[in-house]
Amino acid sequence: MPVSPGAIIGRIFVALSSIYLAPSVPPPFPDRLAQLDPSSSSLDNEIYDNQSFDWGRSGLELLNPARVGYFMDKLHRHVSTHSRGTITILDLGCGGGLAIEAIHSALVASASDSSTISQTKSGLVVDGRTYKLIGIDVSVRSIETARQRAASKSMSIEYIVGDIYALPFDAASIDGIICSDVLEHLFDLPSAFHSIAHCLAPNGFFSFDTINRTPTSYYLTIWILQDLLRAMQGDAHDHRMYVTPLEVHAVMRRSGLRPGPDKDLVGMRPGIRFPPVALYRLMTGQGFINSVLADFRLTSDLSISYLHWCEKPSS
Ligand SMILES: C[S@@+](CC[C@H](N)C(=O)[O-])C[C@H]1O[C@@H](n2cnc3c(N)ncnc32)[C@H](O)[C@@H]1O
Repeated sequence: MPVSPGAIIGRIFVALSSIYLAPSVPPPFPDRLAQLDPSSSSLDNEIYDNQSFDWGRSGLELLNPARVGYFMDKLHRHVSTHSRGTITILDLGCGGGLAIEAIHSALVASASDSSTISQTKSGLVVDGRTYKLIGIDVSVRSIETARQRAASKSMSIEYIVGDIYALPFDAASIDGIICSDVLEHLFDLPSAFHSIAHCLAPNGFFSFDTINRTPTSYYLTIWILQDLLRAMQGDAHDHRMYVTPLEVHAVMRRSGLRPGPDKDLVGMRPGIRFPPVALYRLMTGQGFINSVLADFRLTSDLSISYLHWCEKPSS
């Protein structure tokens, strides 16, 4: 199998670490799928409640073209094969609502004719089908931000403050769950997947993106972005919390969920802006991430972030 460019970058940094020009990759937790003690990690999930955290400057919107396209593909597949009445879509750990807003926009854009779009109490109606969009997050401040954003854009999205480990939904009540950049924040993945499997309807899908635990992701997202450039808060990520595809598939199967085919396991990487444009954006105060990085795109290289999905079997 050819070595990906991302893996080559990781190997170069590992070689540099052997001559003390870079730090070593921290040893992983003995078992990432155990219930982990939050005090054993530098990760702080409360940063999203701080006044200083700005969803608009977080850079997460740059992921939307790649991740939302992928999620919409799973949604269309689900709708075409398992058509029911209202389709309920849940964004788990929605933060400021960046991904579910983009799903709303994509559904509106998919309408055959603008006269077939309406917003009712039950949700967004497109071409005669009702989509109920819900975002849930444990961060009160993020949910307030998400509600304000949706109201200002007249989007019918319901937002709820709630915890992944105790989802306030009936069993088998949700058709599709998206979960974007959240798995690497969870200290108890088995409990989270137990909740997900409980809420999903038979044939329902769960689709996610997360950061892979590789040398490349350590050097690029932790050492360079977080520690050296301080482009992210120092406690935004802990490399040991990142999750590999094998671990995600194992916890899915243990929860009775069936991972999608390997061909759907795809990587995601950022684009890089043309240097004069990046410099202009930096000088006009758009922050390091939004200045230097551009929209993410799908790739076969899994060494940084990746997307995949699973389904709840009908029997
Ligand atoms: C990196 S942000 C991603 C936000 C959003 N999904 C996006 O990509 O724009 C991680 C989010 O996970 C949320 N989160 C972490 N642990 C959670 C839990 N146990 N239950 C619900 N949300 C949680 C955080 O509050 C935060 O909003």
